[in-house]
Amino acid sequence: MGFYNDVILPRQRAARAAQGRVLEIGVGSGRNLPFYGATVTQLVGLEPAPRLLDMARHAPRLETPVDLVEASAEAMPIENRSIDTVLTTWTMCSIPDVDRAMTEARRVLKPGGKLIFVEHGRAPEPNVRWWQDRLTPAWMRISGGCHLNRDIADILTRNGFRIDEMRTGYMNGLKPMTFMYEGQASPR
Ligand SMILES: C[S@@+](CC[C@H](N)C(=O)[O-])C[C@H]1O[C@@H](n2cnc3c(N)ncnc32)[C@H](O)[C@@H]1O
Repeated sequence: MGFYNDVILPRQRAARAAQGRVLEIGVGSGRNLPFYGATVTQLVGLEPAPRLLDMARHAPRLETPVDLVEASAEAMPIENRSIDTVLTTWTMCSIPDVDRAMTEARRVLKPGGKLIFVEHGRAPEPNVRWWQDRLTPAWMRISGGCHLNRDIADILTRNGFRIDEMRTGYMNGLKPMTFMYEGQASPR
């Protein structure tokens, strides 16, 4: 199985790398919940959509204590410096003010804390970028506000994160929708 042939593997890698008090932003229907292990002492799942939050309440999970909270990443109801790991998967594309959300992520992380990300975004090739820019306005309307053309590495670095490790590459599917950024970052 290739690094990006399957959406389950990146979810497993991300959740297994999380530790301590974890904040997942845009927890959605809870698709990462089954993968958190014993290194996670508490999981706070933030999600603005009540329908998805309700699905997350019924998602399979291990023994990790889970606290699901209806809130947006741009205004997290979380104390400063109280989180060991912020985790985000397929969410940075959809947050309306992603810069503000990343500023919030930095605010809530403890010194030494990490942000773990698995996100799709801006591709390296000019022809794929051309399609990403042209498709994004219509795509946003049918996909709940998802941008195809966000440069995830740039968003992180311009909002005060240092990228500690990152792998990029295409998943199966149409190139404008499937260029992936996966890695870890920490507040500078
Ligand atoms: C494509 S879904 C991904 C859900 C989940 N992270 C996953 O990996 O399955 C995008 C998620 O971003 C969430 N989202 C959109 N705007 C947001 C915001 N302002 N703050 C936090 N999450 C947001 C959506 O409600 C949705 O759950």
